[in-house]
Amino acid sequence: MSLPPVALFQQALRVATPAVVYDYPGITATVRRMQDDIAPIPGAQLNFAVKACHTPDVLAHLAGLGLGGDTASVGELELATSAGFQEITATGPAFSAADFTLFRAVGVTVDLDSVAQIEAYGRAHPGTDAGLRVRIPLPEKLEMHSTFGRNSRFGVNATDHRVHEAFARHGLRLTRLHLHTGQTSPEKLLYKVAYTLHMAAKFPHLHTIDVGGGFFHLYLHRGRARAALRRTARMVEEWQTEHGRPIALRFEPGGGVLAPHGYLFTEVRSVEEHHEYYGTRVVTVDSSAWNLAPWHKPTVLAADPAAGSGPPRPGLIAGNTLYENDFFGTDIHGKVDRGMTFPPCRPGDRLVITASGAYTLTNSRRFNRIPAPAEYAFDGTGSLRELPGAPFA
Ligand SMILES: Cc1ncc(COP(=O)(O)O)c(C=O)c1O
Repeated sequence: MSLPPVALFQQALRVATPAVVYDYPGITATVRRMQDDIAPIPGAQLNFAVKACHTPDVLAHLAGLGLGGDTASVGELELATSAGFQEITATGPAFSAADFTLFRAVGVTVDLDSVAQIEAYGRAHPGTDAGLRVRIPLPEKLEMHSTFGRNSRFGVNATDHRVHEAFARHGLRLTRLHLHTGQTSPEKLLYKVAYTLHMAAKFPHLHTIDVGGGFFHLYLHRGRARAALRRTARMVEEWQTEHGRPIALRFEPGGGVLAPHGYLFTEVRSVEEHHEYYGTRVVTVDSSAWNLAPWHKPTVLAADPAAGSGPPRPGLIAGNTLYENDFFGTDIHGKVDRGMTFPPCRPGDRLVITASGAYTLTNSRRFNRIPAPAEYAFDGTGSLRELPGAPFA
């Protein structure tokens, strides 16, 4: 990622907290890098997982960079359509008949998640194109807590005869395979591409394989990511030569594109220098991890370098709700593990919680009736631009 310019932090000091600031030039640079990295793969395209951000202006910025958008509901479909995404895809576990009709009305082919969903879709729209969300049985060596292969609750097993019978019964044409297995990695990507290319050979109408997102782990080392993407390019080329037809890959990261480029500015409200149970300081701020950042592993900085004095120290950052476990940077079970290291601070100081650009507002809840933070765009010049949130249907 590109580091944000100092101007972003200077401008953010002038807006009320809590505030999420999106670094648009940073987002653009990341998208351009990812697009460059997948460019060797014939016909491949980068899409954005709309579930990660519903802020219309941010979506329009992403659409303007040539991305497509993957949606999980008709609400997200509306946002993606208004944002102007070039291509829209859809996958979710429980679409209604009305949802299918709405997707079809705007030309979106739905990727079906279960035999029951194939039946429901097929009864209403026989003889049409449909995609399939597939579950990938990753080998044990490639599974970890952030990966969902065999243990995914989404998608169907490619070898389940009921799936293919349901497709045949309704005369559906299988045109796309769609997968997402949590965090990916160079090895997992290659496994998934090999697995789905093998499947694709069996379906004459299949033209797209959407390999999902999970780019945090893919990009732990960009050189290794690029090597895997080059290898993917060769696999696709060989497949096309062997089968005499094109096949196009789609990648649809959410967090990898946006999370690093969103900063939550929050004010310190109180500091307990030594909490007897936790054995460290507990700093309570004016925003809530529980309401906004249940999954985030942020780095925490002083927003105003003039205010922060002394080297970073261990501590916990607590949110402003009355939920006991409202702490930033908890483990996957929502519990405080090792705390964080961040600058010394006093009430009135501002902290920056990084990695807040994705799944922050889209996950947000209103516990204690605490409103969501305002959102701003940093455009690289001038002052921050306040962004209207997504309207609720
Ligand atoms: C189908 C699908 N695609 C893409 C993503 C994006 O994942 P990430 O934000 O980890 O890149 C998700 C996340 O849940 C997903 O379910």
